Amino acid sequence: MQFTTKLAGLAAVAAAAVSAHNVKFVNQDGTTRSIIFTGTSAISTLTISGNSNASVTLPSGWQGNWYSVSEGAEDVPGMLGEVALDAWDGISYFDVSAIVNPNDKDGVKLLYPASQDGVNPKTCYSGCEVFPCNTAYYAPDDVQTVSTSDTDFICTLGGSTATSKRDETPLVERKFVLGEF
Ligand SMILES: *[C@@H]1O[C@H](CO)[C@@H](O)[C@H](O)[C@H]1NC(C)=O
Repeated sequence: MQFTTKLAGLAAVAAAAVSAHNVKFVNQDGTTRSIIFTGTSAISTLTISGNSNASVTLPSGWQGNWYSVSEGAEDVPGMLGEVALDAWDGISYFDVSAIVNPNDKDGVKLLYPASQDGVNPKTCYSGCEVFPCNTAYYAPDDVQTVSTSDTDFICTLGGSTATSKRDETPLVERKFVLGEF
């Protein structure tokens, strides 16, 4: 994960209070999904029924990622939600990364600070409803990591995506046209 993006204005952002973090997973379709976590301390797999929400608490300073496995599917890492909580300057950093598996179009979709819930269009988020798009992180040198002083996050999963306006004309890096993804 890169820590170099969206630095403008960071100095003006007060350091976030050090506390546990809640991530609410919003399962947008009828598929039951398991969320598998890997990070600086063990987090139990979270199972979420179709069309429902479930939350996990991540400890202060936790750094790691998660991916979603749909019921009946093989457990292979997919689109990753990544966070570094209470990291540089006390700020939390996050992104949705396609690096390990850009073929996962059924798992993690958007990751955003809880204060963006209901905000449309969102001004702070990573990921997309339809992959590929220009707000996910496809290569180690992509600049897509976002910062927030929010404590809590929302991560959307799956769901019908055909009407996502933002993705009608996705911008991607030239490597896509070169087949280098
Ligand atoms: C799940 O969370 C989303 C986002 O906060 C909310 O809009 C939705 O109503 C919740 N759904 C359920 C079933 O609680």
